[in-house]
Amino acid sequence: MKPAPFHYFAPTTIDETLALIAEHGDAAKILAGGQSLVPTMNFRLAMPAVLIDINRVAALAYITARDDDLAIGALTRQRTLERDAQIARHAPLIAETMPFIAHPQIRNRGTLGGSLAHADPAAELPAVMIALNAQLKLKNQKQERVIDARDFFVGLFMTALEPDELVIEIILPPLPARASCAFVEVARRHGDFALAGVACVIARDEVRSWKFETRREIPISNFQRPTSINLGDDILMNDHHAIQLTVNGITHQRAVEARMLLSDFLRHDLGLTGTHVGCEHGVCGACTILFDGEPVRACLMFAVQADGHSITTVEGLAPDENHLSTMQSAFRDAHALQCGFCTPGFLMTLDAFLRENSNPTEEEIRLAISGNLCRCTGYQNIVDAVKRVAQNG
Ligand SMILES: Cc1cc2nc3c(=O)[nH]c(=O)nc-3n(C[C@H](O)[C@H](O)[C@H](O)COP(=O)(O)OP(=O)(O)OC[C@H]3O[C@@H](n4cnc5c(N)ncnc54)[C@H](O)[C@@H]3O)c2cc1C
Ligand code: FES
Ligand code: FES
Repeated sequence: MKPAPFHYFAPTTIDETLALIAEHGDAAKILAGGQSLVPTMNFRLAMPAVLIDINRVAALAYITARDDDLAIGALTRQRTLERDAQIARHAPLIAETMPFIAHPQIRNRGTLGGSLAHADPAAELPAVMIALNAQLKLKNQKQERVIDARDFFVGLFMTALEPDELVIEIILPPLPARASCAFVEVARRHGDFALAGVACVIARDEVRSWKFETRREIPISNFQRPTSINLGDDILMNDHHAIQLTVNGITHQRAVEARMLLSDFLRHDLGLTGTHVGCEHGVCGACTILFDGEPVRACLMFAVQADGHSITTVEGLAPDENHLSTMQSAFRDAHALQCGFCTPGFLMTLDAFLRENSNPTEEEIRLAISGNLCRCTGYQNIVDAVKRVAQNG
């Protein structure tokens, strides 16, 4: 087990969430997409005693027009922002920026509220929200307040969020008449955190631009385990949850410890060792699986979060035990298997990619696999395999 033990709650309403935050104080952490929090837990840089998973709070995930504004629930996934037609019309700067944020596997889980609350100085969305004059709606058990994005970010990984508050909504005003937007960044590779960047809105008598840059020093106090834990570690160790999930079409029921990663559950509990584990902080892509049909990192989710969901691993790609899938055959024929360590992650990523884009260009293929690292050989044969599948329809 990589993360330290914690007590897990999965509320289904905002009121329930706020009551849990009030009850557990600074011993608790909110778990949204987990794409920043879980890596730090895997490294044991963050060791919250209580995890409040808001992924089942449906009332936090929406995009809706309200008068002239667009209101976005904090739990709205980054991938939803990327694909949404209202966002593209109302705030094209967001649509333009989304592909720069990590990779589809990360954006499928990562949320808007999570990125803003995390306040990474190298993240794109905080800069974009300031350029758009966005406001954040924060709520605790007693009150709701609205704060300008400009005032929300107060330092490196620091915000104006009080310990008992939840980001519940982001409000985007309309752009000024005839405004233009632009986003540029410099990163070592596509999808990496930016070394520096600028989000900009230019209107007739107004220029709003916001620079951001990588500064990786993180105040150590952000990660220390709070001292005011009122739940003993022995109780935390016993925090088991009954789950039921479908993996490759087969339903499984298990009791899992809250801190068990989904990747470890698939490998050790279900014996599906095709899901490989490399970095365990979301970077290498070896653990990519399909979660309700979308590629995600299995090392950045807990098994308990898969309750009620459907998963496909590399073992589920072949139509039967005597035949390979079209992509698996193409990998074999194009010598793309190489050492095979990264292969399962590539296959899962490409399965989802080709369903969305069945006739990609070479550039699109290279972009699609940019979130999967091959450490032994390289990408040329993998690209050739994808081209074969695309050409043969
Ligand atoms: C390999 C990799 C590459 C990445 N590259 C980029 C990149 O290029 N650019 C970029 O911007 N990001 C990048 N990310 C981070 C990603 O965008 C995260 O999704 C995002 O930073 C956090 O969102 P989340 O929903 O995953 O939040 P979580 O990880 O769940 O939470 C992050 C923090 O915010 C708090 N929090 C979450 N939601 C709320 C809420 N509603 N109210 C109050 N507090 C809340 C949590 O308690 C936690 O402290 C990358 C991540 C990985 C793993
Ligand atoms: S991304 Fe999960 S093991 Fe590397
Ligand atoms: S084929 Fe060896 S790591 Fe990619």
